[in-house]
Amino acid sequence: MKKVLIATEKPFAAVAVEGIEKILKEAGYEVALLEKYSDPADFQRAVAGVDALIVRSDKVTKGIVDAAEKLQIVVRAGAGYDNLDLAACTGKNIVAMNTPGQNSNAVAELAVGMMIYMARNGMTPGTGSELKGKKLGIHAYGNVGKLVAALGKGFGMEIHAFDPFVDAETLAKDGVIPVDDPKTLYRTCHYVSLHIPANETTKKSVGYDLISSMPKGGVLINTARKEVIDEDGLLKALMERSDLKYAADVAPDGLSKMEASVGLRIFATSKKIGAETAEANINAGLAAARQIVAFFEKGDRQFQVNK
Ligand code: 3PG
Repeated sequence: MKKVLIATEKPFAAVAVEGIEKILKEAGYEVALLEKYSDPADFQRAVAGVDALIVRSDKVTKGIVDAAEKLQIVVRAGAGYDNLDLAACTGKNIVAMNTPGQNSNAVAELAVGMMIYMARNGMTPGTGSELKGKKLGIHAYGNVGKLVAALGKGFGMEIHAFDPFVDAETLAKDGVIPVDDPKTLYRTCHYVSLHIPANETTKKSVGYDLISSMPKGGVLINTARKEVIDEDGLLKALMERSDLKYAADVAPDGLSKMEASVGLRIFATSKKIGAETAEANINAGLAAARQIVAFFEKGDRQFQVNK
C-alpha cells in the first residue's frame, strides 16, 4: 500500500485535509499527517517510508530527500517551489510538482486588499487616495498577476505589465498595456504588484533604482517572495522619498528597523497569508492529492517542475 505524508508546518484548513484524505484513501493509499511541527527533525523522521509527500512552503531539503528512501513524488500544494531542493529530488529520481493557479485568487485578492490598505494610510484617520484612475504595474503576468490585473481594472485602474515570457498580443487582448522592461514599469506606475518567483536570477532584483524611480506616491506590493527585494535598496528609497510605500505578505528580514524609520509607510504580515483561505487550501490541496493519484495510477507528470 502506498503511503502519502501531508507535511504542513502551516496547516491546510481542516476541510481541505478531509478532502485530500478522501481522495488518497479512495485510491487505496495510507495517509499520514504532520502539522504545525517546529523541528525539521520531526519532518525528517516522518518522511521515512513514505512514497509521496504533499507540502506547502515546507523546506524539502537534501536531508529530507535522503531520509525519504522510498519517496517517488513530492507535490508542493501551491505555486512557488523555491522550497524544494530540485537537484536533490532529481538526483534520487523523485518527481517534483507544484499545483499552478490553484491558490492564485486568494493571493490576488490579498494584493488588491493591500493596495487599498496603503491607499487609506493603514486604515487610520486622515486623507487617503483612491485606486481609480491610477496606473497599476504587474511585474510578471502569470496566474496571480493576471487576476490582479483584472481586479485592478474593476477599480478603474490603467493596467501595465512586464513579463518577458508573455507576448504583447496576449497582454493587449486582456486590455493590458505591454511594457518592455521593469525600468519602464516602475517609472510609469503608481502601484506595482510583484509576482516574480524567487530564483537565482530574481533574488534581490528589485531594489533602490526601480523603487526610487516610481511616480509620486508610489506603492510597491509584494505578495511574491521577500528574497526578490534588495532590502537595503528598499529602505534607502523609503528614507529618501517620504511619499513611497511598501506592503508585503512576506516580512522583510529588517522589518523592525524599517518600521522604526518609515512608520506606516511599510506594512507586512507576520506570516505569509496570501494562500490562507479555505478555498485556496481546498483547491491546491485537492489538486496535489489528485496529481499524486494520477502519477501513480497513470504515470501522469503534467505538473512536474524538475524535468
Ligand atoms: C505559493 O507559492 O503558492 C504561495 O506563496 C502560498 O504559499 P503557502 O502555501 O506557504 O501559503
